[in-house]
Amino acid sequence: MNVTVGQRTEHFRTVTFDTAKNSVRLIEQRLLPHEFKIVGTKNFRETAAAITDMIVRGAGAIGATAAYGLAQGALAFRGGDLEKFSSHIKTVYQTLADARPTAVDPVNAMNDVMREMARGETVAEKQSLALAAAEEFANEDARHCEEIGQHGAKLIRNGMKILTHCNAGWLAFVDIGTATAPMYAAQSQGKKFHVFCDETRPRSQGATLTAWELAQQKISHQIIADNAAGHLMQRGEIDMVIVGSDRTLGRTGEVANKIGTYTKAVLAARHKIPFYVAIPLSTIDWNLKRGFDIPIEERGESEVLGAWGIIDNSKLKTQNSKLAQRAYIRVANPTSGARNPGFDVTPAELITGIITPVGIFKPKELWHRRHELGFQK
Ligand code: MRU
Repeated sequence: MNVTVGQRTEHFRTVTFDTAKNSVRLIEQRLLPHEFKIVGTKNFRETAAAITDMIVRGAGAIGATAAYGLAQGALAFRGGDLEKFSSHIKTVYQTLADARPTAVDPVNAMNDVMREMARGETVAEKQSLALAAAEEFANEDARHCEEIGQHGAKLIRNGMKILTHCNAGWLAFVDIGTATAPMYAAQSQGKKFHVFCDETRPRSQGATLTAWELAQQKISHQIIADNAAGHLMQRGEIDMVIVGSDRTLGRTGEVANKIGTYTKAVLAARHKIPFYVAIPLSTIDWNLKRGFDIPIEERGESEVLGAWGIIDNSKLKTQNSKLAQRAYIRVANPTSGARNPGFDVTPAELITGIITPVGIFKPKELWHRRHELGFQK
C-alpha cells in the first residue's frame, strides 16, 4: 500500500527480500504509528527473532517472513554436500516454525518452499528454488488479498458502520490485508462508510496499526475501547463486523484470531449483526479436527500490566531522541500478576461467512469446497 511520510508517498510491501544482502526486509511495526522504518535481518535466526519479538506480525506477514527466512537460511549454506544441507534446512525450518505458535501461515508457507526445494538435485538448484518459492508465496499472498477485496466489497453498502478487531490490514500481510481488503476495494468503488477499530489490548494493534493504515488511506474511522463494541451494537451503530484469522480449521470452520474476537462474535450474534472473517488460503489448517487443539500463544504478563507508547520528549536532552520517545508505562497494581493468552477460537455457528480469494463461504462449507480452496493431501 502507499505510505505517506512527510511530503513523500511511496508504495511499500510489509515484507521483501534483498538478494544482494541475503536479508529479509521488514517494516519495524513496533514503532508504528510514531515512526516508519525498514529494518533488515542478517540471518535466519534474526529473522525468527523478528517474528518472536513482533517486529513483523500478522498471519500472512509472518508467513512470508518465514518463507523468506527459510530461503535466507538455504542461501547461507556453503558447499555442495546434500546431507549436510538437508540437516541445516531442518534446523532453519524448526527455528522459524517455533518463532510463534498460533498462526498456521508460516508452516504452510515453509511447506510450499520445502516442496519446491525437493525438485532440485543440487544444493545450488535447491537454493534458487527456495528463493523463487518464497517470492511466489509473497506474491500469492498479495494476490489473494486483492481477490478477498473484490469478493468482500460486495458486502459493503454506502453509509455502513463496520467494526474490525486487531490488525488484519496490509501490515499483517504482504500487501492490502484481509479484513481491510473489502474496505479498500469499496473505497475505490466510491462507497462511503465508517470503520470502528477495536483498540485490541494488550498490544493495541487496532489503535496503533489499523488506525494508522486507515488514516493513511483516508478512510473514515474511530478507535474504540475494546469494551465499547457491545454498547454500540445495542444502539444500532454497527452494521457488520469483519476480522482476520491466524488459523481457520478447514474441517470445522472454527476461527482462531486475536484475543477478544470470540467476545465480539458472541455480541454480534446476540444483536443479529453479520460477522465475517477474511482469510487467504494459507490461513486454512486442513489437519486439525477441533479448535480446542489450536496452540494458543501465551505471552508475557508485562503486556497486560502496562502499555507501550511515546512520551513527549521535546524536553529530553538525549543523544538518541528517537529511542527516548518509546516508553513502557506500568499501569497495573505493582504486586499483581497477569494472564495473557494472545488468541481465542470462535465457533463456526457464530460466523456468517468466510471471505476467501475464491468467494464467500459458510464456515461449514470449507471442507466440501476444499479442492477449490487449495487442499493438498
Ligand atoms: O499478535 P499478532 O498481531 O501477530 O496477531 C495477529 C493478528 O494481527 C490478528 O489476530 C489478525 O486479526 C489476524 S492476522 C491477519
